[in-house]
Amino acid sequence: MNDFTGAEQFVPPRGGLRGLRAALPDCRGCDLWEHAEHVVPGEGPARARMMLIGEQPGDVEDKEGHVFVGPAGRLLDKALDAAGIVRDEVYLTNAVKHFRYERRGKRRIHKTPAAGHIGACAPWLTAELGIVKPALVVVLGAVAARAVVGTGFKVTEHRGEAIELPDGTPATVTVHPSAVVRSQEFRRDFGLFVEDLRRAVELLRTA
Ligand code: URA
Ligand code: SF4
Repeated sequence: MNDFTGAEQFVPPRGGLRGLRAALPDCRGCDLWEHAEHVVPGEGPARARMMLIGEQPGDVEDKEGHVFVGPAGRLLDKALDAAGIVRDEVYLTNAVKHFRYERRGKRRIHKTPAAGHIGACAPWLTAELGIVKPALVVVLGAVAARAVVGTGFKVTEHRGEAIELPDGTPATVTVHPSAVVRSQEFRRDFGLFVEDLRRAVELLRTA
């Protein structure tokens, strides 16, 4: 399960974001491409100062081939708006580029990517970070935190704090928007999410 070849050999050494986007559909770095409809590349300007990293595409993203366009994306849009962040000015991507799911009848149920998938897909994220060179990374949820901060990071204990990625990039971690979508205490959790994003804006200002 963990011995995927990984994406490294599929990531072009040059060509910028356009090059990544062109090469991504041919990735066979792990087994997730087989049952997905689309690969979902990151989106946003190469010169974005803020990069937000989610987990993996959901059902809608897989069908449409675009990042954060389903229910979690709609919530993210509202939260970004409330925090004064313009979606088109930030770079949005995921730790894993293909949708992992389980079939239940006609429905496709989200399944958390395994450590092996996160590791296999990491070269794409590393390449995106290398091209965009964001002044601040906003990590959305535990899976993305595992991918870029490391295992053992407790999102609920450290959300909103100023941290650094292992390569020194300034970062902050908050919850995943789909956790807010599902929340039993929606108003509170939406408010806390927006607060974390406002703090990210503040961190960016001082970066
Ligand atoms: N959840 C994510 O983490 N990313 C998406 O693109 C959609 C839902
Ligand atoms: Fe490649 Fe990532 Fe898709 Fe796996 S999930 S096939 S590593 S792009």
